[in-house]
Amino acid sequence: MTPLVELRKVSKYFGPVVSLKDIDMKIYAGEVHCLLGDNGAGKSTLIKTLSGVHKPSEGQIVFEGQEVSFSSPREALNRGIATVYQDLAMLPLMSISRNFFLGREPRVGPLRLYDGNYTANVAREELRKIGIDIRDPDQPVGTLSGGERQSVAIARAVYFGAKVLILDEPTSALGVKEAAVVLKYVVQAKTRGLGVIFITHNVHHAWAVGDTFTVLNRGKSYGTFAKADTAREKLLQMMAGGEELEALAVELDLISKKDPTSAGRMEHGVAEELHREGGSSA
Ligand SMILES: Nc1ncnc2c1ncn2[C@@H]1O[C@H](COP(=O)(O)OP(=O)(O)O)[C@@H](O)[C@H]1O
Ligand SMILES: [Mg+2]
Repeated sequence: MTPLVELRKVSKYFGPVVSLKDIDMKIYAGEVHCLLGDNGAGKSTLIKTLSGVHKPSEGQIVFEGQEVSFSSPREALNRGIATVYQDLAMLPLMSISRNFFLGREPRVGPLRLYDGNYTANVAREELRKIGIDIRDPDQPVGTLSGGERQSVAIARAVYFGAKVLILDEPTSALGVKEAAVVLKYVVQAKTRGLGVIFITHNVHHAWAVGDTFTVLNRGKSYGTFAKADTAREKLLQMMAGGEELEALAVELDLISKKDPTSAGRMEHGVAEELHREGGSSA
């Protein structure tokens, strides 16, 4: 099966900063591919490179079997790569349906008018399809919760024919219940045949919906793993950078031996904990 999108040895430098180094990644239709990593790992840089915000410094991006080079997010969007950013591009004072069609307003009739009834009906219907019940599509987006806004953005991407849906930390600012709602729509998008790239530093959210997992650490990939071939603890350990935790544990251990005070004993406890975590999933 040909991947929807493939990154081949993609690197991205910002001057002396190496944000990504030799990243290989394949995204297939009908899967949720989680991109995991701690803050600063390069997750946002990777998806910006994939969605036309940045050009890769090295390597190729292959879309449906053809090498592509996007010069803008609009170009990527036109090919079917839609990105929902954490800081959503929505206008809070404008209605849900206005936001739904933002930048893609349909104009009807010889006068090319914007038809508020038409857009309200489409928005309501599309949201209903993915399970969101909006009574009034004319209500301002600002009255929706963070999770509902993410959901509107997902429904919009699906409606406009996205093949690849990229979600950058859609759940990280949300409470537990709201996150669960967004996770449900992530799965909905997948069952409708999209390839979903779900970026998060929350392993629990990833594990709940992910089929495949790619772990970034300081711009490098630890590889891609199918759910059956990995474990939540392993992913956590990779995200944290296994060796670094080991080194820290040794260091804390040394300090605690020199220092017989209670603070020293506490550090010793932390060190033991880290040893256990490192050992259990190596
Ligand atoms: N436009 C930029 N210019 C310079 N450095 C950047 C830029 N964007 C990201 N970086 C650097 O690249 C690294 C990865 O950042 P980012 O992709 O935002 O990580 P993440 O999304 O995983 O938290 C960080 O060290 C960050 O400072
Ligand atoms: Mg980020």
